[in-house]
Amino acid sequence: MKAQIQQLLEQTVSSLKAAALIPAELEPRIQVDNTKDKAHGDLATNLAMLLAKPAGKNPRELAQLIIAHLPASTLVAKTEIAGPGFINFFLDSTWLAKQIEAIAASPKAEVKPASPAQTIVVDYSAPNVAKEMAVHHIRSTVIGDAVTRTLEFLGHNVIRANHIGDWGTQFGMLIAYLEKVQNEQASELELSDLEAFYREAKKHYDEDEVFAERARGYVVKLQGGDEYCRAMWKKLVDITMAQNQIIYDRLNVSLSEKDVMGESLYNPMLRAVVEDLTAKGLAVESEGALVVYLDEIKGKDGEAMAVIIQKRDGGFLYATTDIACARYRVETLKADRVLYFIDSRQHQHLQQAWLIARKAGYVPEQVSLEHHAFGMMLGKDGKPFKTRTGGTVKLSELLDEAELRAGALIAEKSADLPEVEKAKVIHAVAMGAVKYADLSKNRTTDYIFDWDNMLTFEGNTAPYLQYAYTRIQSIFRRVGDEAQAGAVQITAPAEETLANKLLQFNDVVHNVAQKGMPHLLCTYLYELSGCFMSFYEACPINKEGVTAAEKASRLTLCQATAKTLTLGLSLLGIETLERM
Ligand code: ARG
Repeated sequence: MKAQIQQLLEQTVSSLKAAALIPAELEPRIQVDNTKDKAHGDLATNLAMLLAKPAGKNPRELAQLIIAHLPASTLVAKTEIAGPGFINFFLDSTWLAKQIEAIAASPKAEVKPASPAQTIVVDYSAPNVAKEMAVHHIRSTVIGDAVTRTLEFLGHNVIRANHIGDWGTQFGMLIAYLEKVQNEQASELELSDLEAFYREAKKHYDEDEVFAERARGYVVKLQGGDEYCRAMWKKLVDITMAQNQIIYDRLNVSLSEKDVMGESLYNPMLRAVVEDLTAKGLAVESEGALVVYLDEIKGKDGEAMAVIIQKRDGGFLYATTDIACARYRVETLKADRVLYFIDSRQHQHLQQAWLIARKAGYVPEQVSLEHHAFGMMLGKDGKPFKTRTGGTVKLSELLDEAELRAGALIAEKSADLPEVEKAKVIHAVAMGAVKYADLSKNRTTDYIFDWDNMLTFEGNTAPYLQYAYTRIQSIFRRVGDEAQAGAVQITAPAEETLANKLLQFNDVVHNVAQKGMPHLLCTYLYELSGCFMSFYEACPINKEGVTAAEKASRLTLCQATAKTLTLGLSLLGIETLERM
């Protein structure tokens, strides 16, 4: 909707230039906003105020000129000049009605595909091997997945990159310990508790010199491509990722085994990268190590930042991997955009790796590398979210608790649902609530995890939105089938408000794709539900005195709302249900 008005204004600016009413060299950034108060129309622009000074005109006078040169269109019913020179647009209700009909009828709710479609790599989730996913992994996993789904929905070619931590010297001790466990255990190995496994491996490494010696030997062998070590390593990766897959499936996260592109993938490329950086004069020797000095980033002492890319003992670093990784994503995967969903503490690390990759010519200017950072998950006390005894909370345990709590909520609310259906509702509400709590906050700040705020049918929560959808479905069951929906006519103010809100969906989805911020969609869906509730209160569907035409129109508004809600929630990876 904004885009259409924007287009009209672009044409207007061209006509004003052609008529020499404003200087030809002006290229204003045309902005169109939703109005807060409907008395001021549906949309507004400050274009006249923006152009007034450079055009040497009074803003209100210029607003007049703009309106006079606005091309005729079916969507604008009326314009008005307000205050110092705002132009307000009132949308035509017939046009609005047609749009709502189109939304109700189209599978994508009239969201326009992105143009041009790009190849976009999304780096998200990225747990570590031989560790269980902890609560903090939910942020990258859930936010990254929502943005991934949104980009894909808009027609981009999206490549999911699960950059798991599957490489490093710790694998020596892990292999040695896996070997020990296998030897002692007659049956096929079962590693249900990865945390304990890692702890034990570390303990042996620290306390048993013979074991430690063997572990160090395995590191060298693994890096040399030794078949036995490689197979043992693979086993650890597979066991970990099989456990993580259970969590992904449970959370309805669209990652699978084929999306794994861990640190190990880049290992064979590191030597060539280091050699290339040295040949290009970017990397220089310093105390036996290889270092890149970055003038653009100053360290604490005001000196150029030194980034080590190869240690004195020949080992490579996390930064080296991310340089090779950025190169691979551009040269091999042909990315136009790479989105990294990683916590904000890794910001400097990424800046360094990317700057080096750009200087080396691996990533051309037109490819955008974006760190979509997020803050920490905090407990109600404002401190990092921990177990009662101060340990890290396993993600699987958090999800168990969510199901328990949702069970209590649903037992009360949906007592008469058959058991099988109830179980489905509980699962959808539990996962939806946990995900939505994370998604609905602006990701750049820390957020407080609070069960009571997320598992409730009131406020900006998943259960509230899921229930709003279900409620519309029940209207169709009780009041009339979808076949009775028909031509839209917008008369009541509540209908107009709802219709306007529905038309904003396209802009919101594109905005989420652009900014990598799913909370914009959450806020929108919450507002949409609010508009729907007001509409449903003000505009009865099946009451006496409601004409057949009114009923048909209102049912179409219901349809368009239900479609937008379920589609919007699906972009967030949240399920909706017909009944709850
Ligand atoms: N595995 C890392 C961690 O747990 C995150 C990796 C993020 N991706 C990247 N390209 N560095 O901290």
